Amino acid sequence: MSDAPLLAVRGLRKSFGGLQAVRGFDLDVAAGAIVGLIGPNGSGKTTVLNLITGEIAADGGSVRLADQEMAGLPAFRICRSQIARTFQLVRILPGMTTRENVLIGRLFGADPAPLERARRDVDVLLDRVGLADRADQTGAQLTYIDQKRVELARALATRPRLLLLDEWLAGLNPTELQIGIALIRQVRDEGVTIIMIEHVMEAIRALCDHVVVMSAGALIAAGAPDAVLADPEVARVYLGDDDA
Ligand SMILES: Nc1ncnc2c1ncn2[C@@H]1O[C@H](COP(=O)(O)OP(=O)(O)OP(=O)(O)O)[C@@H](O)[C@H]1O
Ligand SMILES: [Mg+2]
Repeated sequence: MSDAPLLAVRGLRKSFGGLQAVRGFDLDVAAGAIVGLIGPNGSGKTTVLNLITGEIAADGGSVRLADQEMAGLPAFRICRSQIARTFQLVRILPGMTTRENVLIGRLFGADPAPLERARRDVDVLLDRVGLADRADQTGAQLTYIDQKRVELARALATRPRLLLLDEWLAGLNPTELQIGIALIRQVRDEGVTIIMIEHVMEAIRALCDHVVVMSAGALIAAGAPDAVLADPEVARVYLGDDDA
């Protein structure tokens, strides 16, 4: 094993018209880590995920996964290179069943399985995320929380080395939050490295080894969760000058 990071992002840039959404973003993620990506609304967090996964093309910079360059590859190739994600605004296929939604990940992700084996693998995943009894319901019939579970199962079905979660814990009630935290921890313990965008600081403290903070498209702080969350500059960007 080398000490090289699993993911190395360098100088990532993206503008939308005159708005610099991401302005020279660097990040190293060690294999096996859970890294929290936090920052106020509009600071560029989701854009960073969209750039890493090839959802949108970067204006510049490099994204290396275990020394393989991802920047410039189409999203499906990045997925097959074992980077998976969930979406801040859930994107499942409403007319397909829970099982079919997750099957897509197993059939078209990294290391695709033949149909019968894929079905069995998907049923194991559905059980794990707590959807076994809703496997035959359509996406449209599911509650919001269950739709988020489908997205997690679909992402895991692609067999990722790196999983990117965009506010996956947002909107959960306190019981669901604890279940969600335990599930994320379990995924990491099974060997998946995780970057999680999250506004729920309880989850950041409970799960993350390392936290990075974005403000206006740039990284402004990084370190252990307790130290970063106690940083006055971090409080200032979250609350605005007047409240700090
Ligand atoms: N496709 C797009 N076209 C134009 N502007 C965009 C696009 N995507 C994001 N932006 C803008 O880029 C900035 C960063 O947005 P982004 O979604 O990355 O923020 P965020 O940190 O994820 O915020 P939030 O916490 O609210 O989800 C915002 O000003 C947003 O309006
Ligand atoms: Mg976002």
